[in-house]
Amino acid sequence: LTDTYTLSNGVQVPIVGFGTWQTPDGDVAEASVKAALDAGYRHIDTATVYGNEVGVGKGLKASGVAREDIFLTTKLWNTDRGYDQTLAAMDKSLASLGVDYVDLYLIHWPNPAAYRDHWQEMNAETWRAMEAILKAGKARAIGVSNFRQHHLEALFKTAEIKPMVNQIFLNPSDRQAELTAYNTAHGMLNEGYSPLGTGKMFGVEALQQLAERYHKSVAQVVLRWSLQHGFVPLPKSVHSERIQQNADLFDFELSPEDMAVIDGLHGVAGLAKDPDTREF
Ligand code: A2P
Repeated sequence: LTDTYTLSNGVQVPIVGFGTWQTPDGDVAEASVKAALDAGYRHIDTATVYGNEVGVGKGLKASGVAREDIFLTTKLWNTDRGYDQTLAAMDKSLASLGVDYVDLYLIHWPNPAAYRDHWQEMNAETWRAMEAILKAGKARAIGVSNFRQHHLEALFKTAEIKPMVNQIFLNPSDRQAELTAYNTAHGMLNEGYSPLGTGKMFGVEALQQLAERYHKSVAQVVLRWSLQHGFVPLPKSVHSERIQQNADLFDFELSPEDMAVIDGLHGVAGLAKDPDTREF
């Protein structure tokens, strides 16, 4: 759990993170983040739009783990786009989380509906602010989320600093082979939110059979698949026994044949929605 990848600017990222999408704010966010840190996670992922930054921040403090030992990510939401708005949103997130800096700040969405006819310009302006945030030390690394190749190509036209991470919906049903290869080729670490397919992986028979054979849970098999591909899985749970289970991934290895079986499950639980057609 303390093993890390190194981003293009030298920052170290723990290879398994704790996801908080759909975790309610307040006691649940606080308790589950504390449980994750107690279980040994050192990488916590939230976002402004998840609405739980305050609870997540309380969980960090309640754990007693030193701030510098935690890798903390949050994300800029669509309503805060533009240069000045992005700077202000960063400050607001820092205040909500109760921290002086985040380890990673991401643009959450490539093309919000409100900007669909000029998303390129909007992303260029927003990215300029992300670069300023990096230089000011308010984020140790910057990146994007849900970007496809054409969104990245547009961003590269004006970016002075390239994104260090692309966090995408990434699980055996949504393998995203071309995009993950593109991210890697352009120096971006692949992080996967909903690595368990928001829970939809549990009903897949092929995974149940593999889990039985390895004497592991379906969650562990799926998360191990992510790790062996070099993706950073960000499993979410609000139950401490599951939180612990999802971090207990280091005493087995999937064979190349079984990796191929899981790769072959692409599409099994429905494809990720295309960010270009989302209505937010
Ligand atoms: P819960 O939070 O109630 O534990 P994803 O990370 O792909 O978004 O998936 C999260 C979903 O999977 C949540 O519904 C979560 O429920 C559930 N979940 C997470 N870990 C496990 C596990 N080890 N076993 C069963 N369900 C899990």
